[in-house]
Amino acid sequence: MGYKLLISKAVEAKSNALPTYSNFFVGAALLTMDSKIYTGCNIESSSYSLTMCAERIAIFKAISEGERKFKALAVAGDTEGFTSPCGACRQVISDLCGEIDIVLVNNKNETKVMKTSELLPFAFSDKDLR
Ligand code: THU
Repeated sequence: MGYKLLISKAVEAKSNALPTYSNFFVGAALLTMDSKIYTGCNIESSSYSLTMCAERIAIFKAISEGERKFKALAVAGDTEGFTSPCGACRQVISDLCGEIDIVLVNNKNETKVMKTSELLPFAFSDKDLR
């Protein structure tokens, strides 16, 4: 399936998470079109709503380094169920990554691949602003 390295980077990034309040560890790894990988983990704040998800950290890191074209995003959770991106992350993935493969990884290293439009059908986008 070709995403072995990306998956291992997401799992590795999970160990850097700072889930001080939820104790829910998440790691993410974003693959660019030219095969670079940017990772992220969730980081929580004592002002809870300032918490940032692993996915958005990986995406914002990549964008801030000048990356614009992406192929896939792996999201590794620490539970037997698949950790699926939250609504806010779905919007950001749709806006900044487009139609990519989203590889969900559970704590047994099992995977489920979905597309952006499956996670966020009928999305709001920049086109609506014109
Ligand atoms: N979280 C993520 O980082 N990504 C997800 O896809 C789901 C939720 C984080 C946010 C918060 O730190 C913790 O998981 C519990 O919601």
